[in-house]
Amino acid sequence: MTSLKDKINMDKLPQHIAIIMDGNGRWAKQKGELRVFGHKNGTKSVKETTEACGELGIKYLTLYAFSTENWNRPKFEINFLMELLVSTISRETKRLMDNDVRLLAIGDLDSLPSACYRELMSAIEQTKNNKTLTVILALSYSSRNEIVEATKKIGEAIKNGKMKPEDITEQTIIENIYTKDIPDPELLIRTSGEHRISNFLLWQLAYTELYFTETLWPDFGKEQLYEAIIDYQNRERRFGMTSEQVTVKS
Ligand code: IPE
Ligand code: IPE
Ligand code: MG
Repeated sequence: MTSLKDKINMDKLPQHIAIIMDGNGRWAKQKGELRVFGHKNGTKSVKETTEACGELGIKYLTLYAFSTENWNRPKFEINFLMELLVSTISRETKRLMDNDVRLLAIGDLDSLPSACYRELMSAIEQTKNNKTLTVILALSYSSRNEIVEATKKIGEAIKNGKMKPEDITEQTIIENIYTKDIPDPELLIRTSGEHRISNFLLWQLAYTELYFTETLWPDFGKEQLYEAIIDYQNRERRFGMTSEQVTVKS
């Protein structure tokens, strides 16, 4: 099988790809298995996607792994997901080191079970000087909550006389959200045929290209990632301008 990789324009790569990894439960159900079987198999897709991004030279990959709304799922499924997180991180840290991958996490991390939090922090600490690719896990993440927290911080700064309301700019918001030092994603992928954002990166996605695929997350691999990148590269990003303007500019 010829790979789609050769069709990718290496001069027009997105530097940041974000993924809503969806469809694990349905994938398992189709196979007559429990939902958690889908989560387990989803970790292979995480590995493949991370590897593909590293090989291509993508700088940032953000993976939506658990939303604050996901705390409302059955206890058994939540526990399984948290344990899967711990075992996957501890098993994969060496590979992250070998491939020069830095791990980061965004979300309400304090709400994670302590074993999970410790494992995560240890991997973040170990990988902090890696440079090739940064993988950002969104865990117990809610974009609305992220904006609320940023607003509180800005409110505090005003209360303490460190700034005035009229000093607030877009940059003030950027500096107070979880993704402070990370550029906005150029491409968002959501698997499993759902066409919604589900409280993910609401600020950061303002001008992101959205790509939806029917593929369920455990079936997503390198070729599916290449397909999404090629689709992205065939789009015209106008940022409010006319087609003529952007064509002249590039
Ligand atoms: C995505 O798959 C994984 C998480 C949200 C943790 P789902 O578990 O949402 O799978 P579906 O959407 O029910 O098929
Ligand atoms: C979004 O998937 C969250 C993650 C992928 C972690 P969900 O499956 O929870 O989203 P909804 O509830 O169907 O919108
Ligand atoms: Mg889902």
